[in-house]
Amino acid sequence: MRIDVVTIFPDFFSVLDVSLLGRARQSGLVDARVHDLRAFTHDRHRTVDDTPYGGGAGMVMKPEPWGEAFDAVLGTDASAQTPATVVFPSPAGERFTQAIAHELAEAPHLVFACGRYEGIDSRVAEHVATRATVRELSLGDYVLNGGEVAVVAMLEAITRLVPGMVGNPESIVEESHADGLLEYPIYTKPATWRGLDVPDVLRSGDHGKVAAWRREQAIERTRRVRPDLLEG
Ligand code: ADE
Repeated sequence: MRIDVVTIFPDFFSVLDVSLLGRARQSGLVDARVHDLRAFTHDRHRTVDDTPYGGGAGMVMKPEPWGEAFDAVLGTDASAQTPATVVFPSPAGERFTQAIAHELAEAPHLVFACGRYEGIDSRVAEHVATRATVRELSLGDYVLNGGEVAVVAMLEAITRLVPGMVGNPESIVEESHADGLLEYPIYTKPATWRGLDVPDVLRSGDHGKVAAWRREQAIERTRRVRPDLLEG
């Protein structure tokens, strides 16, 4: 999988060198490259923003550097069978979910465009849509200062689903959101810790009973914490 990230804070993504994603990059499973948006500016101040047409507070990211950045990262895709998927993280986007993470884990080429300030001139996404699949995605119903944190979170959710990434593929099948429910409570040794016991059923050796208990617990937790997931 090829991943390109365009940002005005490339140093922020040094986090990609550590952890599971770092190992995936080293192994060649994921080819991730980070690009400095300011490298695509041509003025002395390397300007990436300007005041909004129509007035209002804040600054808007200029289209020209973004256009050149996309020319650079999408350029080699001209003859590709599957167009790249370009993700614009935005609080105004569609909610990023585990289902979307699975979809994106299948894409051969993902590009993440980290906006800052009030956002990127709207013509950029419109233009990119003529040569790539565009997804505007929100991490949740709150506002971050820019897309960088959202992209790191999305990258971790997506890349761990790429075949070969997670040590035990079953851990992906069993986890929260895999079946539309939150995960059941989990325990390890010792059986008693600070006066708290592991539920007997988990030590019974009866796999049927364990599975039934876990499902019951998952449904109960989901009903209590996230009833919206059970609607429909
Ligand atoms: N940029 C700013 N806020 C965001 C959010 N909630 N999700 C994704 N990108 C963002």
